[in-house]
Amino acid sequence: MAKINPLLFAIFIIILIPNISLSCPQHQKEALLQFKILALRYLSSHIDFFKPFDTWNNNFHADCCQWSGVACSFITASKQVVTGLNLNSFISGSISEYATCSLDSHSQNIVLSSHVLTPLFHVRTLEFFFISCNNIQGEISGIGLSNLTALVELDMSHNMFNGSIPPQLFSLRHLKSLSLDFNFFHGEIPVEIGNLTNLQELSLSNNKLAGAIPPALCRLKKLQVLHLQYNLFSMAIPAVIGNLSDISTMLLNDNHLAGEIPLTMQKMGQLMQLNLENNLLSGEIPAWMFHFRNLGELKLGGSQFVWKNTSIVPKSMLSVLSLRSCGASGLLPLWLSNQTSLSYLDLSVNNLVGNLPSWLTKLKLTHLILSDNKFSGSLPPILFQSKLKNIDLSRNNFSGNLPDNIPYTISLEILKLSSNDFSGPIPISISEALFLRFLDLSKNRFSGNKFPSFEKLLFVDLSSNKLSGGIPLTFSPLVVTLVLSHNQFSGVLPQYLKDLYKLQCLDLHDNNITGNIPAFLFQISSLRILNLRNNSLEGSIPNNLSNATLLQILDLSNNKLSGKVPSSLGNLSAVIHNSDGSFFNFFSPKCDVNYRLPDPLFKLLHQSWTSKQFDSFYDSWLCTSLIISVEYPNLEVIWKTSKRDLPQHHLDMYTLLDLSMNQLSGEIPHTLGGLKSLKVLNMSYNKISGKIPATLGDVDSLESLDLSHNNLSGEIPNTFGKLLQLAVLELNNNKLTGHIPNGPQMDTLNDPNFYANNSGLCGMQIKVPCDPEAPPKAKPAEKSESKEAWFSWEMAAIGFPSGFLSTVISLYVIGYFSVAPRRPGRRHV
Ligand SMILES: *[C@@H]1O[C@H](CO)[C@@H](O)[C@H](O)[C@H]1NC(C)=O
Ligand SMILES: *[C@@H]1O[C@H](CO)[C@@H](O)[C@H](O)[C@H]1NC(C)=O
Ligand SMILES: *[C@@H]1O[C@H](CO)[C@@H](O)[C@H](O)[C@H]1NC(C)=O
Ligand SMILES: *[C@@H]1O[C@H](CO)[C@@H](O)[C@H](O)[C@H]1NC(C)=O
Ligand SMILES: *[C@@H]1O[C@H](CO)[C@@H](O)[C@H](O)[C@H]1NC(C)=O
Ligand SMILES: *[C@@H]1O[C@H](CO)[C@@H](O)[C@H](O)[C@H]1NC(C)=O
Ligand SMILES: *[C@@H]1O[C@H](CO)[C@@H](O)[C@H](O)[C@H]1NC(C)=O
Ligand SMILES: *[C@@H]1O[C@H](CO)[C@@H](O)[C@H](O)[C@H]1NC(C)=O
Ligand SMILES: *[C@@H]1O[C@H](CO)[C@@H](O)[C@H](O)[C@H]1NC(C)=O
Ligand SMILES: *[C@@H]1O[C@H](CO)[C@@H](O)[C@H](O)[C@H]1NC(C)=O
Ligand SMILES: *[C@@H]1O[C@H](CO)[C@@H](O)[C@H](O)[C@H]1NC(C)=O
Ligand SMILES: *[C@@H]1O[C@H](CO)[C@@H](O)[C@H](O)[C@H]1NC(C)=O
Repeated sequence: MAKINPLLFAIFIIILIPNISLSCPQHQKEALLQFKILALRYLSSHIDFFKPFDTWNNNFHADCCQWSGVACSFITASKQVVTGLNLNSFISGSISEYATCSLDSHSQNIVLSSHVLTPLFHVRTLEFFFISCNNIQGEISGIGLSNLTALVELDMSHNMFNGSIPPQLFSLRHLKSLSLDFNFFHGEIPVEIGNLTNLQELSLSNNKLAGAIPPALCRLKKLQVLHLQYNLFSMAIPAVIGNLSDISTMLLNDNHLAGEIPLTMQKMGQLMQLNLENNLLSGEIPAWMFHFRNLGELKLGGSQFVWKNTSIVPKSMLSVLSLRSCGASGLLPLWLSNQTSLSYLDLSVNNLVGNLPSWLTKLKLTHLILSDNKFSGSLPPILFQSKLKNIDLSRNNFSGNLPDNIPYTISLEILKLSSNDFSGPIPISISEALFLRFLDLSKNRFSGNKFPSFEKLLFVDLSSNKLSGGIPLTFSPLVVTLVLSHNQFSGVLPQYLKDLYKLQCLDLHDNNITGNIPAFLFQISSLRILNLRNNSLEGSIPNNLSNATLLQILDLSNNKLSGKVPSSLGNLSAVIHNSDGSFFNFFSPKCDVNYRLPDPLFKLLHQSWTSKQFDSFYDSWLCTSLIISVEYPNLEVIWKTSKRDLPQHHLDMYTLLDLSMNQLSGEIPHTLGGLKSLKVLNMSYNKISGKIPATLGDVDSLESLDLSHNNLSGEIPNTFGKLLQLAVLELNNNKLTGHIPNGPQMDTLNDPNFYANNSGLCGMQIKVPCDPEAPPKAKPAEKSESKEAWFSWEMAAIGFPSGFLSTVISLYVIGYFSVAPRRPGRRHV
């Protein structure tokens, strides 16, 4: 962001304000006022909330050097010109030196066109130009930029600029600092970049830049900081990069770079920060990588590097070390105990073994990430008294109780111990971790019916343990995800759940919850996922779902629900329209990774802020805390025919309505036909009667429909021929009759089990010809069509159901199959 020290910038402004009234040049003032007018045009509808240009008054005597965000310098004893503009975050109401990019709910919706900048290109004396965090969209005018020949520092980061980087930029040869991070620039970095020989900082991260890293970069002899992370750069890192002998920070992570680390990088003697994570780089991590004397931050995880010799001792004091997924084995290297400055350690996804040594807690660690290894033994109690904020020991072989006789540290924010062998109660003293926000204790053997206070938590996963008693009553009204599934919880759904106004996911499946489904559950308007499968709930399904506008996964199967299927289910708007995609908003460009307020402030502000301020702050807080913890608990549902863990950060792709295995009666409401985005509908094993409504053929997205084991009668509606995504159609064990409809996809659904045990179905799908004398439902033309189909049914049988295929492909794309189906088999008895 702002490259010059903001304090210096402020002093710079103050010193340069003249005592004598020397105004800035008239034409520069006019240019600035022109800019103000253009910008206000975009802000006008929001101008009640903030007044960024308050000091930019246009009376004749006004001196623009005194306006906020404007800096001037004397070029002669009596003449000054505008040399600096700090317009960071002006759309969020103030022009501040500390750009946070945490746009509030008003400014998030404002988008400015890059034309607003046109007048500013007339201020040719500009040396500093900062305009980050303003939602400016469109291409940057290269001709305009080429006017600003005096520029030394340019910061246009955190906007929505697109197109390629304008070549004229490379004629600004005084540039020392250039930042275009967090935009949508694409194309390659032009070789002309080598012309900016004064450049000390080059930041192009978080764009869509591609191609190779140009070897011309090595001409930037003064370069100290290079940020190219989160782009699409590919091919090998050019060997000449080693000629950047002054470089201290090099972040190339999250690209598609391949090949080995060039040997020449040994020459980068000033290197302090190196991040090559998440590329396609390979080869053994060379010994010299640990020989840089000033190296403080080393991140090489998530590529295909091999860290063979773990006993090479670094020659520097590291503060950050990440060697995730580098094939390391053996014990934790002992030299780590001498790394007394280490605060961030990520050695996850390796084959490390042994106990967690207690010397770890003597380091200054704030992040300890050792998930997916083979560590074992119990945890040293002192671990919870250290300065650690983030502990992730998931998927190891740790065992024993969590210590309860010690005060838990106040600094702990994230604790993930999933998939180990821990047992005993959840320690009551965990409540002392006042800033704990994320607790994942799933897939262990925790037991007991007494719980600590969970008042501070936003993400709770206690699933797959042996917890019992009533559902704990101490969750925060701000909790977002509450997963208590697969335990032995009992009792009714507590009333206070209706106060959880941020709740997006409530998962209580596989417990023994009793009583009715209270109507208030559906008044939690933030709710997207409600999973109550396999409990002992009875009574009817509440009929008023008008407030459940975001609900997209509703699983009430395997309970004792009775009564009718409410017709209001057809009003679930998230299932009608495609989801708005704002689920958790994890990777929104507005989630600024660098934005972070210290937590004690969080508490203070919470008390004094208005709810609007709080909500906007809360969202950015959520962004940061979520980005830290890349993995979220998965959601377990029956997707089509088998149990699946759906990855939470892609959940907006899924819509599901499962009411199976209850005692529901009455007819299928025809309103369900309105659920255009519904992909899975399961009402099997109920007592539903009447006809299948023809409207179901309107559910275009439907991939799996299971109505088996009911009392349905009449014919299968012809409208089913329109369903092109359908891959599973279970209609067996009903009283259906007549002709199974034809259609491009229907013709492929020829598994006889789909239709077994009915009262007289016919059709080419089950090789039962329909009686030609039967009531002529179909016109003669249609009949001949079905005859043709009858002839070619064998062809159809070997064809793939296209809907199924498209889903499989998209699931591959999102990495769905990294989680194998846990219990395949179509009947869940
Ligand atoms: C460059 O600056 C001059 C003088 O202020 C101005 O007249 C001209 O229009 C500017 N060119 C562009 C492309 O903005
Ligand atoms: C840049 O964004 C604008 C506005 O969204 C769009 O009209 C234009 O086509 C985009 N240009 C490029 C090169 O993508
Ligand atoms: C880069 O420098 C070369 C020679 O120094 C010059 O010919 C060329 O025009 C420059 N390119 C740009 C875009 O300034
Ligand atoms: C890189 O530096 C070496 C000497 O350190 C020099 O011989 C070589 O020419 C330089 N390469 C480039 C492309 O500047
Ligand atoms: C690992 O590195 C250490 C220190 O450089 C060296 O003494 C040892 O021989 C190396 N071990 C292997 C197996 O290469
Ligand atoms: C830690 O540092 C001390 C002093 O520098 C040294 O004697 C000792 O061998 C080191 N221990 C390890 C495990 O590297
Ligand atoms: C896990 O640890 C237990 C002892 O606590 C041991 O018996 C078992 O073999 C370990 N399992 C694995 C997979 O390492
Ligand atoms: C229902 O949940 C219980 C645990 O509460 C579990 O033992 C059982 O297997 C589950 N039944 C089904 C069909 O999943
Ligand atoms: C569920 O709870 C009810 C009432 O508390 C009890 O009768 C029933 O046996 C329990 N079912 C299971 C599977 O534990
Ligand atoms: C439904 O939601 C609205 C606002 O989203 C709220 O004002 C109203 O009280 C809710 N209705 C009920 C019955 O809770
Ligand atoms: C459903 O609840 C809303 C408030 O959430 C209320 O305004 C509406 O009248 C209710 N509708 C029915 C049919 O009960
Ligand atoms: C569903 O929505 C329609 C139109 O928005 C409305 O008329 C109807 O009352 C709603 N039905 C229920 C049961 O809420």
